[in-house]
Amino acid sequence: MNRGVSLWPPAASEYATAVDAIFIGLLVVSGAILLLVAMLLLVFCTRYRRGSSAPRGDLPEFIRRDVEIGWTAAALFLALFIFWWAASVQIHAGTPPPGALEIHVDAKQWMWKTRHPNGAREINALHVPRGEAVRLVMTSQDVIHSFFVPAFRLKQDVLPGRFTETWFRATQPGEYHLLCAEFCGTDHARMRGAVTVMEPEEYTRWAAAQPMELDLAAEGSALFTSLGCSGCHAAASSVHAPSLAGIYGRVIHLSDGRTVRADSAYIRDSILQPKRDVVAGYAPIMPTFAGLLDEGELQRLLAYIESLRAAERR
Ligand code: CUA
Repeated sequence: MNRGVSLWPPAASEYATAVDAIFIGLLVVSGAILLLVAMLLLVFCTRYRRGSSAPRGDLPEFIRRDVEIGWTAAALFLALFIFWWAASVQIHAGTPPPGALEIHVDAKQWMWKTRHPNGAREINALHVPRGEAVRLVMTSQDVIHSFFVPAFRLKQDVLPGRFTETWFRATQPGEYHLLCAEFCGTDHARMRGAVTVMEPEEYTRWAAAQPMELDLAAEGSALFTSLGCSGCHAAASSVHAPSLAGIYGRVIHLSDGRTVRADSAYIRDSILQPKRDVVAGYAPIMPTFAGLLDEGELQRLLAYIESLRAAERR
């Protein structure tokens, strides 16, 4: 790994290439405008210096009007173009493609814990396959951290008490810095790790070679039963509660007329503040689990509920 300080980190993801293109584009546009203004400044300083015989009368009306309209329109279109360019990259960066490899990230003072779909765990390390979309579902056990991989141009805050998500598609095999970009206490500067991008076959082999544990969804399923969730949410239950099969990602109609998408944040809120967003047609009888579950348990339950979607599709 390159341990030195480099002003331009390698670009190792699709997003990094797009961000670099915008950065270079802005640099070229600003440079061109700077040059143009500086040149005009020099020309006018020389041409209209004191004592020169250059004409100083009014410009013809059409030049004053057309030039004014021309440069105003050009500046407007340039600004709109830059906005469209940057916004489209940003929107794309905010929408993970379906079927992305989902990795859970758990941050704490001062380490990164990551967990792969097959149950493999890592500390201050993350192995990912090249060319595949990887979605990170992240939470913190204590304070705000920020997941930062300069080579991917990727930075996403990780907050206690909620899930934040981001995604990337790595393009270059190699090992890259993972840093914490939010001051989080004494050892903030040491809260770093390495992201290793491997060829997909290599990743499969690596993941299979990790010590086997129950996967997240299987652990979540056990919790779902032991916490009593299944008593009401199972299909055969006598208590009237929404079935969770296939719920993940679906649009839900609430009793107060609003609709929400059942994403990770919604499911988390439904577990911790069940009275807030009650599904239409159901009574607000679910007790809150706030204070009874830690972040790891919430992640496991979430993984289980997400897996119900996959099971339904099969
Ligand atoms: Cu974690 Cu800074």
